[in-house]
Amino acid sequence: MKDSSLRIANLLLAAAVLFLCCDGGGGGGAAAEEAAELSSDVGLSEAEVGLIRRRQLLYYRDGFGDRGENVTVPDSFTFPNPRLRDAYIALQAWKLAIVSDPKNVTGDWVGPDVCNYKGVFCAPLPSDPCLTVVAGIDLNHADIAGFLPEELGLLCDLAIFHINSNRFCGTIPHSFSRIHLLFELDLSNNRFAGGFPDVVLGLPELKYFDIRFNEFDGSIPEELFDKNLDAIFVNNNRFVFDIPDNFGNSPVSVIVMANNRFHGCVPASIGNMSDTLNEIILLNNGLRSCIPKEIGLLKSVTVFDVSFNDLVGTLPEEIA
Ligand SMILES: *[C@@H]1O[C@H](CO)[C@@H](O)[C@H](O)[C@H]1NC(C)=O
Ligand SMILES: *[C@@H]1O[C@H](CO)[C@@H](O)[C@H](O)[C@H]1NC(C)=O
Ligand SMILES: *[C@@H]1O[C@H](CO)[C@@H](O)[C@H](O)[C@H]1NC(C)=O
Repeated sequence: MKDSSLRIANLLLAAAVLFLCCDGGGGGGAAAEEAAELSSDVGLSEAEVGLIRRRQLLYYRDGFGDRGENVTVPDSFTFPNPRLRDAYIALQAWKLAIVSDPKNVTGDWVGPDVCNYKGVFCAPLPSDPCLTVVAGIDLNHADIAGFLPEELGLLCDLAIFHINSNRFCGTIPHSFSRIHLLFELDLSNNRFAGGFPDVVLGLPELKYFDIRFNEFDGSIPEELFDKNLDAIFVNNNRFVFDIPDNFGNSPVSVIVMANNRFHGCVPASIGNMSDTLNEIILLNNGLRSCIPKEIGLLKSVTVFDVSFNDLVGTLPEEIA
């Protein structure tokens, strides 16, 4: 009993934080006022308790804490194929999860013709060119506040998902594991928080991975460096970890890890990145140790920045 009431208290707290974080539309203010009103009462009435419980359910629908929305498709709508019907559900759920859209970017997300929605791009499915599917989302610089509902996993043919420079918060839904063609994921400059979004490790086609300028914390799983990625941007988050020995397995041409808190050595395996690496930026991380001599193997690196790190040792002449 004690455990479960503690859990409820924690969930409520988390829900309150979510409200605060998605602060665009005034909804957060109203909720905060309401909460203050409730807590100033001597006790909570049954109805108030029920209200809080329902709100909690709204925010936490599954075991991962992913939240979904409740979209129904009008009978009068017809779709060229079931993939586009699923896309309609996903995009309408997303629209419900948006609390502020100051540029009215999603204003035309109405009706069944999802391929004409602003920021939504359709294309023939590579494996079945007769089938038109949603292949790209580009909402860069839309300044939208909201979160990513789990229904986005219905966009299972997406190759490109770009939402940089918005105010999305919360976490990356586990349903993203269904987006198995995803090639470019750009979540940069938003307000995502919590641990590293492990779901990306299972995306087989991912090449461009950009989560810079968010609030992710904890460690970065070493599996990231075994993935066949071309670009990794994790800078300006709150990650804290040792750079693992398998770092050099990464075939990236660009990796930027600046402005986090990494410890330990730059691993010697970095020498194995010489065929692919062009740009590596580790600045301002609190790395407090050695630079391995293998760094001299990095022949095609044009940008190498480890400044503000208290590193001991000297850079090989080739790099310095
Ligand atoms: C979703 O909407 C339908 C129809 O409006 C309703 O019957 C159902 O209870 C809703 N489900 C949830 C989980 O809110
Ligand atoms: C937002 O865009 C839609 C469709 O483009 C338009 O009908 C609506 O009036 C716009 N709303 C505002 C507040 O500008
Ligand atoms: C580079 O890779 C090879 C083979 O994967 C491995 O044996 C070697 O130890 C690596 N070099 C470094 C410096 O880690």
